[in-house]
Amino acid sequence: MEAYQVKLYQSQIQALEDPHIKHVYERFVVREKEHRDFITQQLENLGVGINLAGPSFTLAGIVSGKTLDLLSLKDRYKLGIAVEHKAVQMYHEFIEMTRHDPELSELNKKLAYFMVDEEQHEFWFKEHLTRLEHV
Ligand SMILES: [Fe+2]
Ligand SMILES: [Fe+2]
Repeated sequence: MEAYQVKLYQSQIQALEDPHIKHVYERFVVREKEHRDFITQQLENLGVGINLAGPSFTLAGIVSGKTLDLLSLKDRYKLGIAVEHKAVQMYHEFIEMTRHDPELSELNKKLAYFMVDEEQHEFWFKEHLTRLEHV
């Protein structure tokens, strides 16, 4: 999921025209990389190896690859909302799973911070979609 978000935003930067929006996407990529690397590290600590370059890391059912170049800004924002909403739900579940174990309190807090990041991403897309729709 996090690897997908990194790719999703990275692959759109080229096609964006507005410098401010470019910066937003670049900043999102930094955050998503932070999430991805942390989760990868956690999985490695548990002895679970994952291949980030693998084909399974394009999220099934959601746009991938070349199609992204053809998207309108509105569609980019709608896609962003859908993906970020999924990420928020995912963190919500992880947070619930780690809530009652005192040994996992640090992890629980980290997951909560990441969920806040995803919420901010979702809100940003929602706000900017609304602005586009009222032009
Ligand atoms: Fe993320
Ligand atoms: Fe995100």
